[in-house]
Amino acid sequence: MSRYLIAYATRYGTTERAATIIRESLGEAVACNLKKGPCPNLENFDWIIIGGSIYAGRIQKEVKKFCQKNSDLLRQKKVGLFICCMYDGQKAEQQFREAFPEELRLTARARAIFGGELSFDKMNFLEKFVIRKFIGVKESVSRFRPEEMAEFASKLRD
Ligand SMILES: Cc1cc2nc3c(=O)[nH]c(=O)nc-3n(C[C@H](O)[C@H](O)[C@H](O)COP(=O)(O)O)c2cc1C
Repeated sequence: MSRYLIAYATRYGTTERAATIIRESLGEAVACNLKKGPCPNLENFDWIIIGGSIYAGRIQKEVKKFCQKNSDLLRQKKVGLFICCMYDGQKAEQQFREAFPEELRLTARARAIFGGELSFDKMNFLEKFVIRKFIGVKESVSRFRPEEMAEFASKLRD
């Protein structure tokens, strides 16, 4: 049976919820929050699933560092990649391209762009301003679709 590690970063919890749905769909998997501490040894897993969310066009620096630091090891693993974000279409695809190193993107066995959530009650003043002005959203909205995560998980098979 394959062993799965899901390494993710989140600010308000959307990506964590996505990671949880993927973990539960896989049956047995380990999830690791890259902002909270070191992940278990990657050597012990067959699949490494890496996910993060997009702020001002960029994925969290912890995700970038994880990919860079483990680039050699990741070459030997089966990899799945995902982002959570509010944009869709070409903008979302561009954000995905910029989130992960090219080699990893091209060799990944599964890729996904999941819809995100914007909760105005969780944001600070500056964030609310940025969201209204640049994303054009004026109230809380969710594009989070659990069925997309379950479908992504179904692709993470040998
Ligand atoms: C200040 C701010 C900036 C954001 N910038 C972007 C962006 O550039 N592109 C995008 O698609 N989504 C953007 N989002 C939406 C987030 O990606 C979305 O809220 C996501 O669900 C956050 O996931 P997390 O809670 O796991 O961090 C932004 C959200 C905030 C609050």
